[in-house]
Amino acid sequence: MARTMWDSSVGKKTVMAVSGVIMLLYLVAHVIGNLKIFFGPEEFNHYGHWLRTVGEPFMHYEWTLWLVRIVLIVAVVAHAVSAYQLSRRDIKARPSKYVHKKPRASYATRTMRWGGIIMGLFIVWHVLDLTTGHVHAGGFQEGHPYENVVDTFSTWYGNVIYIVAMLAVGMHIRHGFWSAAQTLGVGSRTRDRALKTVANVLALLLTAGFIAVPVGVMTGVVS
Ligand code: HEM
Repeated sequence: MARTMWDSSVGKKTVMAVSGVIMLLYLVAHVIGNLKIFFGPEEFNHYGHWLRTVGEPFMHYEWTLWLVRIVLIVAVVAHAVSAYQLSRRDIKARPSKYVHKKPRASYATRTMRWGGIIMGLFIVWHVLDLTTGHVHAGGFQEGHPYENVVDTFSTWYGNVIYIVAMLAVGMHIRHGFWSAAQTLGVGSRTRDRALKTVANVLALLLTAGFIAVPVGVMTGVVS
């Protein structure tokens, strides 16, 4: 049963929609967390510490954080694998008359594929930059995310990488949210306009909220 579901295109689209919603919820929480940087180092670093102690004493140090990480890793992998398999299927299913013409996916499909690849690469770089510190500019300070974020956005390439990634995030959510709603059966003729508006507003708020941080550092509001 589960096997048949996974093998079907509808099954893979459902996996994409559900994993997408999980990651979207994470991003909403992440942007709210990030905006605390405007309230100073104490508040932001305290929040970073809380992420590791949440659930104590029931949970041990970092257990809740690791639970969230595992859910996110599963969501990212499931999303990427289904996307890859759906796109392979899409290419195979093309009528043979396209063999001589250059096959061209729609604008939305191409943006989603490239956006997904850009974000995948970004997430790896981002974790190595601000979680582990391996590619961090300046001296990475464990437990001092405020200072680390300021270091990152004090370099031109840090700003470029983040801003490009945030624009990709916005475009991906704009289309992805709407697609997910269709797959999960939330869409209808009367509701589609409202769903598109919600997708646009959500994408805009998330992109603007994330970009506010590098802009804050560049303008000296955060230093
Ligand atoms: C300007 C935008 C962003 C800033 C300033 C930022 C900041 C941070 C910081 C400071 C951490 C480390 C938290 C800690 O260890 O205490 C972090 C972790 C993380 N961020 Fe971001 N982030 C941004 C955008 C994003 C975006 C767009 C995504 C996803 C597409 C993302 C995904 C993650 C993930 C997966 C982690 C690792 C969480 C963990 O395992 O500890 N971030 N971010």
